[in-house]
Amino acid sequence: MGDYMYKEIIIENLDEMKSFAEDIGKSIFPGFLLCLEGDLGAGKTTFTKYFGANMGIKDNINSPTFTILKIYEGDNILYHMDVYRLMGIGMDYELEEFIYGDGVCVIEWFRNIIESIPEEKLVIEIEIIDINRRLIKIEGIGKYEEIVEKISN
Ligand SMILES: Nc1ncnc2c1ncn2[C@@H]1O[C@H](COP(=O)(O)OP(=O)(O)OP(=O)(O)O)[C@@H](O)[C@H]1O
Ligand SMILES: [Mg+2]
Repeated sequence: MGDYMYKEIIIENLDEMKSFAEDIGKSIFPGFLLCLEGDLGAGKTTFTKYFGANMGIKDNINSPTFTILKIYEGDNILYHMDVYRLMGIGMDYELEEFIYGDGVCVIEWFRNIIESIPEEKLVIEIEIIDINRRLIKIEGIGKYEEIVEKISN
């Protein structure tokens, strides 16, 4: 491994969040792992809606808080997880077959199950600046490094 890239960008509004999600979408591959962090209401699910729509998913992607995992079919399979409620559990073997599977996997609050998360991944942290603006911290580890390299403000 060894490859690592970190960038910060500012997103001004929902339209820019959509373009950002579409940009990331250009780089997906089977087994793609995207880990999302950020406070309640930061925009993790909003990002995932745009990201999923760009993958050809017709169903409405909503917050899976009470189900932990939702599976959608588009050009690729999307596993959308929200592991907020697993805080303190630290590991979830049931989810590992999906995390390590061939679908595209998006995990909100991934740090709650960090022991089940591989080293190699794309991490997007969303910070609220004000009502529409977000600071995006994006980190590419291993083969995800080049995705971050291509992102520009
Ligand atoms: N630039 C932006 N990017 C993303 N969301 C934005 C932006 N501007 C405003 N919003 C609004 O912020 C809210 C983000 O809510 P969302 O459910 O996506 O957050 P979340 O991070 O998934 O929260 P939770 O931790 O509760 O799951 C939405 O109402 C969205 O319309
Ligand atoms: Mg959410």
